[in-house]
Amino acid sequence: MSELDDLLRNNRDWADKVCQDDPSFFERLSKQQSPRYLWIGCSDSRVPANQILGLDPGEVFVHRNVANVVVHSDLNCLSAVQFSVDVLKVEHILIVGHYGCGGVHASMTGMRLGLVDNWLRHVGDVCGKHADRLAKVENDALRHARLCELNVIEQVANLCHTTVMQDAWARGQKVAVHGWCYSLSDGRVRELGMDVAGPEQLQPAYERALASMPVAGKRDE
Ligand code: CO
Repeated sequence: MSELDDLLRNNRDWADKVCQDDPSFFERLSKQQSPRYLWIGCSDSRVPANQILGLDPGEVFVHRNVANVVVHSDLNCLSAVQFSVDVLKVEHILIVGHYGCGGVHASMTGMRLGLVDNWLRHVGDVCGKHADRLAKVENDALRHARLCELNVIEQVANLCHTTVMQDAWARGQKVAVHGWCYSLSDGRVRELGMDVAGPEQLQPAYERALASMPVAGKRDE
């Protein structure tokens, strides 16, 4: 008996059920994918893209890393963005952070976790950039929540600055980037007002998103 038997049984049950509901589902999907969305999210096991969006296989292209960071020298993330924008022609890119993110918390507190600390330096940079704003937040729990949001806002800006997005917009391609933050406690996404559909929209969206960020209390739902 393998410890993985349960997973394999789950897989067979799932595939059987999908086929019962839609006998041509896998045959159709095996020929091509045409997702309209790219999800860039945290690797956290509690933040699964398809389930949160209520989407089937084939409907969302996914890139996940610790703390949903977009780094200009990260070939992994940039390749996912380039392929999904240039080849798949996704129309919306969702950068989805989440409240209670352990990576964001570690970067805020300076907690040492190992090699990953080097990756989380990128979030530490966001923390430093917005130190004045974060210092005004009334307690650590809310400061953590604000940093989760600020991290998303900065990653949207990073993505918009990439050559992939700049070139797509220059040739008139319709593709927008959105900043969201997911709540583990109620399963709902909060929009951060960081929606960018062209290079000229980046700075106004950035300023709007920061201006609408609460200093005290939770974000309006
Ligand atoms: Co996380």
